[in-house]
Amino acid sequence: MKVAITGPDGLLGTELVRECLTSGASVAPLLEAEVDITDAAAVRKCIGRVSPELVIHTAAFTAVDDAEGEADRAYAVNAYGTFHVCRAAALVGARVIYISTDYVFDGGAERPYRPDDEPKPLQVYGRSKLAGELYVRQNTPGGLIVRTGSLYGPGGAGFPDKLCGRAADGDPLKVVNDQWCSPTLTNDLAKAILALADKVASGVYHLTNPGSVTWYSYALRLVEGLGLPNEVEPVSAEGFSAPAVRPRRAELDCSAAAEEGVVMRPWTEALADYLARCGGRLRRSAGLDEESPST
Ligand SMILES: NC(=O)c1ccc[n+]([C@@H]2O[C@H](COP(=O)([O-])OP(=O)(O)OC[C@H]3O[C@@H](n4cnc5c(N)ncnc54)[C@H](OP(=O)(O)O)[C@@H]3O)[C@@H](O)[C@H]2O)c1
Repeated sequence: MKVAITGPDGLLGTELVRECLTSGASVAPLLEAEVDITDAAAVRKCIGRVSPELVIHTAAFTAVDDAEGEADRAYAVNAYGTFHVCRAAALVGARVIYISTDYVFDGGAERPYRPDDEPKPLQVYGRSKLAGELYVRQNTPGGLIVRTGSLYGPGGAGFPDKLCGRAADGDPLKVVNDQWCSPTLTNDLAKAILALADKVASGVYHLTNPGSVTWYSYALRLVEGLGLPNEVEPVSAEGFSAPAVRPRRAELDCSAAAEEGVVMRPWTEALADYLARCGGRLRRSAGLDEESPST
């Protein structure tokens, strides 16, 4: 099978390229330097030349706070870029998998969000990703939308890497304790996306490592697991005053994917595995000697 992947050097894209190659697929990585998805003609030409059977569309403007001041760019990439990818895929008869986000929800629900719950994004990023979803639904008969959240992994700067970068000066780490997330390992997610794509052709599905935790408790677990000397200080989201409003708790209900036999392991197991594999690199980025995790 020939698979084209947008955003192949991103946090998730890197793992999808690896998983597709492992499964024996032929992969065409569509790097931004070769094709800017805001350029309709370039996207059509590139996807036409590659002529894939499947396009996995991960490319996005993902800087949630920056998007507030750069709404034009966020919509150009996340909404119109997605439209261009879907149109080009339709011309060669390729299926599309679009990666979307838990930030399409406002976080006010009393239970985890199901795929058919009404989206109500609170910020430009979520609204632009939701617009992308609408294009997928309208232009792509074989369009699969996978919503996920709070990614981390070896291929880019997720929360563990960012926290370790901030830890290097030894100062206390201030972390929000009134917003929840489901930390999701990109290696696990890439496998789950491909497994789901084998089972279903279209629709909206949720995939995360199950369970949720406040960002503060997540940070504590990282600091303890890596043996960092920093204190972790809980702060309220209001006190943090980030430019973009984030959902308080937008946990995703992944039971629709589970009914198709696609179940991811709990986030605690995935994180422990990641720390066992990548803890040395993280400790070094936090300014610690890899040999002395408990110092
Ligand atoms: N990170 C999360 O926590 C999270 C949570 C929920 C959903 N998601 C969704 O999951 C997907 C993958 O996220 P990620 O964190 O892996 O993203 P990422 O690491 O920020 O990577 C985004 C990728 O998109 C590419 N890109 C950006 N603008 C482009 C353009 N105009 N044309 C072509 N390529 C462009 C980037 O290329 P360059 O590197 O060359 O700029 C990069 O490869 C996204 O759709 C995101 O919305 C992410």
